[in-house]
Amino acid sequence: MTAQSNAATVKIFDTTMRDGEQSPGAAMTLEDKVELGRILEQMGVDIIEAGFPAASNGDFEAVRAVGGVLQNSILCGLSRASPKDIERCAEVIRSAPRGRIHTFISTSPIHRKHKLNMSQEQVLDAVTASVTLARNFTDDVEWSAEDATRTERDFLRRCVEAAIKAGAGTINIPDTVGYSFPDEYRAIFEDLIANVPGADSVVFSSHCHNDLGLAVANSLAAVQGGARQIECAVNGLGERAGNAALEEIVMALRVRGEDLPFQTAVDPAHLMRASQTVSRITGFPVQYNKAIVGKNAFSHESGIHQDGMLKNTQTYEIMRPEDVGQGATSLVMGKLSGRHAFKNKLEELGYALSDNALADAFHRFKELCDRKRHVFDEDIIALVDDQIAHADAAIQVTRLRVVAGTDGPQTAEIDLLVNDEQVWKTARGAGPVDAIFNAIKAAAPHEATLELYQVQAVTEGTDAQATVSVRLSANGRSVSGRASDADTLVASARAYVAALNRLVALQGRSGDANAAA
Ligand code: KIV
Ligand code: ZN
Repeated sequence: MTAQSNAATVKIFDTTMRDGEQSPGAAMTLEDKVELGRILEQMGVDIIEAGFPAASNGDFEAVRAVGGVLQNSILCGLSRASPKDIERCAEVIRSAPRGRIHTFISTSPIHRKHKLNMSQEQVLDAVTASVTLARNFTDDVEWSAEDATRTERDFLRRCVEAAIKAGAGTINIPDTVGYSFPDEYRAIFEDLIANVPGADSVVFSSHCHNDLGLAVANSLAAVQGGARQIECAVNGLGERAGNAALEEIVMALRVRGEDLPFQTAVDPAHLMRASQTVSRITGFPVQYNKAIVGKNAFSHESGIHQDGMLKNTQTYEIMRPEDVGQGATSLVMGKLSGRHAFKNKLEELGYALSDNALADAFHRFKELCDRKRHVFDEDIIALVDDQIAHADAAIQVTRLRVVAGTDGPQTAEIDLLVNDEQVWKTARGAGPVDAIFNAIKAAAPHEATLELYQVQAVTEGTDAQATVSVRLSANGRSVSGRASDADTLVASARAYVAALNRLVALQGRSGDANAAA
């Protein structure tokens, strides 16, 4: 891996909590955002876009809470080109030592006509007015031209010039619909930097969507064209097909540092942890063959590859798993392992639990050892992530019994703790999972509908833990829940309840009755 000590720097702007959260089912609670904000800062992310403060009181509070835990990273909030949005944003960024207002307006003809119903001159006036207002609150203002890549080049130049004149220090040129090819995107930056007055005094930024699978390639092309900030998201989360994946950008710049001599401040050893945290929070599984952070990213199955790897790992690996925080799978302690060894293992995996949480995790680990012959690092990670996700939840599964098999009827009997009150219900269903979900609905009545149910094995073998993801939707909002257990049906019940808890939490957070359970 190449580390270029004298290479120029590219800033990493993370938008997992803003553009990423706009992905259906990826809604995050305030606590989720605070946890993720801490990890991103620890990792060395320069700017953290934590949300859209004017969207709701809940969004406002969540962005403010993230700011409260930041010391080095810049806290950023998004705002439309409206005074109300910008003022809300200005208020919230004060919670961090350093704050940025990010204001945007669409510039393309199709957006101007169908979305804004504004002329070119009106858009230009809005650019000047929004950036000028934002500059009254902070020196750090970013301006974005939404759908920049489908904007007439002449007009884009005029908009960028207006934003720079009004005081924007960062100019973002988003490929909002993921339409560009790398050479086209690079040429836009080269053109703007060469031809717009004042361009040499600002930082140009890329923001690429992945509709054609080109987001990372386009972001790197932007850097070749002069961009010095890349907007990206962990696991490539974002609207539709997502944004450029942060982990891929960081590693591409490191591994190919000799050809693209730019460095970032991100410590790649945190990439795996960030990826798994985002996956747990959103309930979106990471694709097995996902670059850098996928389960198979460093696996070698074929005999020829394995032979090469044994002789020299560089035969088939351009980076080492440990560089990105993917520990080699190792067998961990079994039944006889003590609390001290367990605590050391957690620390090695990047967890710092309180004494009480450690005691709970150790208890669950011992239970797992009774049910599963070999316990791997992945099992420990699933177990602890599961515990963190379900701690202090309003609704908890305390007992489950299921009757399934060929003879039916499939029946589930469930005990739920709902706001500290024990509720028992039984229900039938078309199968065991259906019966469980019906029983939960009887015990905690709600209007949400099931959008997705998915099971994944954490490791190999029939005694593997199952990780179940459930997506529920209510009032136009979808949320995901995830749970892991050696018993797939128990994991199913807990995943459903986790999603339900998230709906309840978001209902509290939104203050606009957006989410209802
Ligand atoms: O994709 C986009 O254009 C955006 C802007 C708001 C920056 O997300
Ligand atoms: Zn976007």
